[in-house]
Amino acid sequence: MTEYVILLAPSANRVYTDQAARLTGAELAILLRRDVSLDPVTLAGVDYLALTADDPADLAPLGFGSAALALYRRDGDHLLPVPLERPDAFDDDLVTIPKYAGKTNEQFTRLLINVTLAARPAAQTERPRRPSILDPLCGRGTTLSTGLTLGYDVNGVELDAAAFEAYAAFLRTYLRRKRIKHSLEVNPVRRDGRHLGSRLEATVAPRPDRQFKITVFSGDTRQSAFLYGKRRFDAVITDAPYGIAHGSHSGPRSRDRSAAALLAEAIPVWVEQLRPGGALGLAWNTHGLSRPDLAEITIKAGLTPLDHGPYTDLGHRVDSSIHRDILVAVKPD
Ligand SMILES: C[S@@+](CC[C@H](N)C(=O)[O-])C[C@H]1O[C@@H](n2cnc3c(N)ncnc32)[C@H](O)[C@@H]1O
Repeated sequence: MTEYVILLAPSANRVYTDQAARLTGAELAILLRRDVSLDPVTLAGVDYLALTADDPADLAPLGFGSAALALYRRDGDHLLPVPLERPDAFDDDLVTIPKYAGKTNEQFTRLLINVTLAARPAAQTERPRRPSILDPLCGRGTTLSTGLTLGYDVNGVELDAAAFEAYAAFLRTYLRRKRIKHSLEVNPVRRDGRHLGSRLEATVAPRPDRQFKITVFSGDTRQSAFLYGKRRFDAVITDAPYGIAHGSHSGPRSRDRSAAALLAEAIPVWVEQLRPGGALGLAWNTHGLSRPDLAEITIKAGLTPLDHGPYTDLGHRVDSSIHRDILVAVKPD
């Protein structure tokens, strides 16, 4: 067994504060499919997380992970850098430039995507097939841009027309400014003569051999299956409304209840859109809906929630009104 230490990105400590070791450990255990214990160590005044592995190749998934800035092999007092293979298809400013109230943290989003996709039975065998993901409450697109960065085709639905427009405008400007080859169109969606909203459709080629597809609808997530028709996704990954006001005047209890009610109505729709063997990954505020109650909703919709090992170790405090957790549930093959 060789000793390694991980240097966390400074932002990971800001997002997860004192919970960074536990969350990074749980993510890594899910990516590596084995128990991982990460022990905080301080070397020359710098904090690291220590772990052991037989072979550095075992640690390759760290490059996908959300928190590691660098990996070193530890040899007594010496640290030898070990290259991390990053899957990233775009610069990280694709996800870091947009800043707005209600944005889901980028690193947390990467963790959410990783732990959801890894839960699918196909995750062990599918390469080089590229999974497609749907964020049915996509806001201004943090999951979409993070999913693109990781190399997936991404799809979204968002009720707030201003958020939809903001994402479309950002993407158009970003791709032009970075001179990334792309096509991007926003068109009205009509069914039976009725105006239902808009659809963004884009194809993006950061390199000649890499091309990704983006589709986003403005509309109600409960209409998602109607909007997407027969399309099916490998994963539905979303950060649910927190029951927190960004400018709303209703009381906190009613907002909590409305977030829970939305999930109860929307989850059966999203399950319909999942491929057999696909996974649902949900981040939500447990103050408005308990984990057992959310698990029950997913069971009733035909999924199997993963309530064991590192999948139960992803909850963390965000602030006094938000305790955020992740529930991952799989659709039978
Ligand atoms: C926690 S936010 C997601 C933020 C997003 N991950 C981001 O970083 O931009 C939840 C989103 O759900 C959207 N939403 C709430 N109810 C919805 C509904 N019925 N249909 C579609 N979107 C909805 C809200 O407008 C909000 O953008």
